[in-house]
Amino acid sequence: MSSAARDFLAKLKGVLRKDFHWGYATAASQVEGAWDSDGKGLSIWDKFCHTPGKVKDGSTNEDAVRSYDLYKEDVALMKSYGVTAYRFSLSWSRIIPLGGADDSVNERGIQYYNNLIDELITNGLTPFVTLFHWDTPQELEERYGGMLNQEKYTPDFLRYARLCFERFGDRVKHWITYNEPGVYTLAGYAAGVHAPGRSSFRDRNEEGDSSTETFIVAHTEIVTHARAAKIYRDEFKTKQRGEIGITLHGNYSEPWDADDPEDITAAERARQFEIAWFADPIYGSGDYPTCMREQLGNRLPSFTDEEKMLVKGSSDFYGMNTYTTFFVKHRSEPADINDHLGNIEKLDTNNKGESRGPESGTYWLRTAPKGFGKLLRWVWNRYHVPIYMTENGTTAKGETAPTDEVLNDTFRIDFFHGYVRELAQAVQDGVDIRSYFAWTFTDNWEWAAGFSDRFGVTFVDFETREKKRYPKRSAYFLRDYIGQHLIAQD
Ligand code: BGC
Repeated sequence: MSSAARDFLAKLKGVLRKDFHWGYATAASQVEGAWDSDGKGLSIWDKFCHTPGKVKDGSTNEDAVRSYDLYKEDVALMKSYGVTAYRFSLSWSRIIPLGGADDSVNERGIQYYNNLIDELITNGLTPFVTLFHWDTPQELEERYGGMLNQEKYTPDFLRYARLCFERFGDRVKHWITYNEPGVYTLAGYAAGVHAPGRSSFRDRNEEGDSSTETFIVAHTEIVTHARAAKIYRDEFKTKQRGEIGITLHGNYSEPWDADDPEDITAAERARQFEIAWFADPIYGSGDYPTCMREQLGNRLPSFTDEEKMLVKGSSDFYGMNTYTTFFVKHRSEPADINDHLGNIEKLDTNNKGESRGPESGTYWLRTAPKGFGKLLRWVWNRYHVPIYMTENGTTAKGETAPTDEVLNDTFRIDFFHGYVRELAQAVQDGVDIRSYFAWTFTDNWEWAAGFSDRFGVTFVDFETREKKRYPKRSAYFLRDYIGQHLIAQD
């Protein structure tokens, strides 16, 4: 290592607060398996992945990585990775199989999460719990169209949220209502490539309207997030002394031509369409960004005065999931009716031919730590709320078998090194960041990409019944870099 690199490392030593939380994030549908065991009801993803042609490798999430059965081993492995916390999601249809406000509770589902929470706490790990990571109960989709019907959906979601606070809130102090409401609606209702698989594109989906439903579903998510947060704050917070927030997706947008004012404006517009769509109502102006209203007119729902008051300030923190950066070029033609990006083009290289970063094993994802540093400052300067990093990570090319070369995952280590260093530098510059959850603990079922995209710091042999786990070296890199170098010690 050069002496400059050594000085740099020394400057960052101990910059993260002592109570900084770090660990791994997962989602129920991607890891649990046991898709119809012990009374669990179906979710829209269970239905979707059993529909031919929807998942790239034709796989289903029936077994996933079997964390439902193997949670004790998983907690022990995570502990050996030195983490302080674990972020996971609850499967709504495991807890209330049919999902509705008047439907019965599945005590065996509750028992599973009690066991997991207790196992974490016994091992000194702090649970961060997401109520909703995309797996709407299938029954609610069939009864009234799920989130398209805000009026009917609201009491069902609130009953589920309240039940979770009642049953788990004595031990869970960090709640996240929704994971990436934007990706849920963009992939599920605009592109139609995720459950529930609706869009305007009839070659892909039988039903849907990308130009309206996308924004209606987002509106339902924002307002019901706020109502759930209000219930927590009014009825539970004082006694349970926890916090509640939402996790938003958002990659960074850089202008394609940094000297072209139109590209500079387009990059900012792209950030607003992607991030401020959700974040402005919750943390900022209290309403959707003006550029969205201008482009979308009344296809973008409006908040009532009551909703506005509820939504603004409804999140105790900014939960951030981010992976990459794109170059953004303005478009001269009027926006297409199905545009959700702010009438821009997303590119892999800029006008100088510079790449946005080295390619991973996932088409949209490239390593771009500098953009991450800018994103942290953009969010902090716009909203000024503490940031919890709730997801960040990468796949790597060629990870098909647990060979020595694959387990020595230098591509992933370089990714984490760059991003975590940016995070530490942002903290040094005064950005309030309180956690880092890497995505993800083990290779898992990557939604419509099936088992082909491996994001884990643990390789999983999906061919074996026991889903054998093999630690990759990145797990130990993070243990040493975050756990021992960056976090302030006593
Ligand atoms: C989601 C995860 C997903 C990851 C990688 C995030 O958008 O929250 O569930 O696996 O990205 O694609």
